[in-house]
Amino acid sequence: MERTLSIIKPDGVARGVVGEVIKRFEKNDIKIAAMKMIFMTKAQAEGFYAVHKERPFFNSVTDFMSSGPAVVMVLEGEGVIVKNRELMGATNYKDAAEGTIRRDFATDIERNVVHGSDSPETASFEIGYFFNSFEIVG
Ligand code: TYD
Ligand code: MG
Repeated sequence: MERTLSIIKPDGVARGVVGEVIKRFEKNDIKIAAMKMIFMTKAQAEGFYAVHKERPFFNSVTDFMSSGPAVVMVLEGEGVIVKNRELMGATNYKDAAEGTIRRDFATDIERNVVHGSDSPETASFEIGYFFNSFEIVG
């Protein structure tokens, strides 16, 4: 069974769509194996997005990710990495397909409500970044 890391980003929490996002996971037979609320420091956000450290948006996106509480989850299910990315929609909500989370709730390319791991390798790194094995109960 595959696992992926999902984050409901600070904009999603602030705008009150946590329940709506989780409902979409549950309706699509995705199991929540771990969940907690965190408030990342700037340094934690920089570590999380380290792959993007040379990108022009790095400083801004790490400011944003450390600007308020977020919900981090381990999702579990068959093909859940790709399935979650499909439910999320494209990075830029303007390009996201109709009915996706980002199309429905994002307000900006940066403030795009959700994060999802993009490969088995990143899923493994990202799950380990926020959770130890005792916290994954699914
Ligand atoms: P990326 O990993 O490319 O997107 P995704 O979240 O779909 O995997 O980028 C990480 C985050 O950085 C993205 O969710 C929003 C932000 N970002 C920008 O602010 N501007 C940009 O041009 C890009 C590509 C990303
Ligand atoms: Mg990414």
